[in-house]
Amino acid sequence: MTVPAARRAGRWTTSIAIGVLASALALSAVTAASAADPETRLKDTAPFRVGVAIDQRETSGDPGRVVTEHFDQVTAENHMKPDAWYDGQRTLRIHPQAAAIVDFADERGLDVYGHTLVWHNQTPAWFFQTASGQPLSTSDADRSILRERMRTHIFGVARLLSERDGLFGAGNPLTAFDVVNEVISDGPEADGLRRSEWYRVLGEEFIDLAFRYADEAFNETYAAPDTDRPVVLFINDYSTEWDAKRARYLALVDRLLARGVPVDGVGHQFHVSMSLNVAALARAIDAFADRPVTQAVTEFDVPTGTPVTTAALDAQGAYYRAAFEVFHARKDHLYSVSVWGLNDSRSWRAADGAPLMFFDDLTAKPALVGALAAAPAPAVAVAASSRCVGGRVVLVVTSTNLADAAKTLQTSSAFGGRDFSDVASGRSVAHALSTRAVSIPAGGVTVTAEGGATVSALYPAVTCSAAAPR
Ligand code: G3I
Repeated sequence: MTVPAARRAGRWTTSIAIGVLASALALSAVTAASAADPETRLKDTAPFRVGVAIDQRETSGDPGRVVTEHFDQVTAENHMKPDAWYDGQRTLRIHPQAAAIVDFADERGLDVYGHTLVWHNQTPAWFFQTASGQPLSTSDADRSILRERMRTHIFGVARLLSERDGLFGAGNPLTAFDVVNEVISDGPEADGLRRSEWYRVLGEEFIDLAFRYADEAFNETYAAPDTDRPVVLFINDYSTEWDAKRARYLALVDRLLARGVPVDGVGHQFHVSMSLNVAALARAIDAFADRPVTQAVTEFDVPTGTPVTTAALDAQGAYYRAAFEVFHARKDHLYSVSVWGLNDSRSWRAADGAPLMFFDDLTAKPALVGALAAAPAPAVAVAASSRCVGGRVVLVVTSTNLADAAKTLQTSSAFGGRDFSDVASGRSVAHALSTRAVSIPAGGVTVTAEGGATVSALYPAVTCSAAAPR
């Protein structure tokens, strides 16, 4: 399937930030992200969006800085859930914390992954009650009431978000939403579905309706003209790493697809333990790989157990590395990989032992180092240098094909670029770019190898004096 182009702001500026350090040392700087470089940002090592669940506390100060440095997507941990959209008078409005998160994402160029439109939990009780407070029955009249409440809620959320930041697909940071969350049963019910209030009143139909309403609201009514379904619609669940639950999940997704329900993506929460072999994570993603959906790791966390020892933190680092290696190997199937919180004490699993990638002082844990180290070495390298020729600045760009096979290499910069076809494995190609300027600010050059690997290099600011060498 085609996933709408993401707002990828932030990647380039980060490459520059890495390069600034290197350029202080030399005129040419190879800035491919590497785990050995403590300045490396997780989002620069990943071929999928890297997300983090936050609330307003992570939208400013040092937490806001770390979120912006390492992540290119945020999820509201609690404040876009159904009950968060209503005040005490049942009036729909955007929760101040959700507003802060959306504003933060918009300012910093991050994507917002919405969580969640329809859930059995954190949903106002009145959704499922008559005006007199009695439980809705399964009569046609009561079923209509619940369908209409769902539709009104979903359209209301889409309207509020689009009023705030523009139509979807035209600058609005929201690019994906968990439409239904945790609808699969933990027990062996015949149809594999959780017995929630949604299910009691509407049966399986509620899942179809949620996606159809969400598609109409986010991808038609409040989508910018000439956009192609700009908000990716996900189903999301936990324990998909376990075979029996995954079989029920897969069966539901197949039924939805067979009925033409507009489900775009399958989410795996992956609240896992270090005792789980990461092969189970691979099996979960692989199970959906031939279905016409993208996938996401939506809520990853891995506690160390208690007490939290140095050895446990190191083992956790190894686990994060192995898990991210699984994710990298499946990059073509992954829309995003998100962790469920920034620093350990903010996690819903804090009591199980330090589950996240940052200590509470926001320094990197071995878990972050492990996630960084999982990135495969880029199959291409680039170096850029600037010099003065005839009093004008010329950039010299050298690209090297590090892949096993011949590749086309494509360079680009503010002053143009060039394509080199059929560059043999291990070979370098160089070209000069005339800027026609006597002075240029620091900037960057990227090279993309056929098949996807992209790396960047920084060149420093340079000013040619009248006596510049020719
Ligand atoms: O905001 C109130 C606060 O005013 C009050 O003083 C405090 C007292 O306990 O509670 C606060 O609300 C808590 C809220 O988190 C914010 O911290 C709720 O009690 C607590 O139930 C709620 O837990 C959230 C949980 O979902 C609710 O189901 C967790 O933070 C959140 O991480 C968790 O997220 C879920 C995903 O949505 C779905 N997948 C599983 C995941 C983990 O359970």
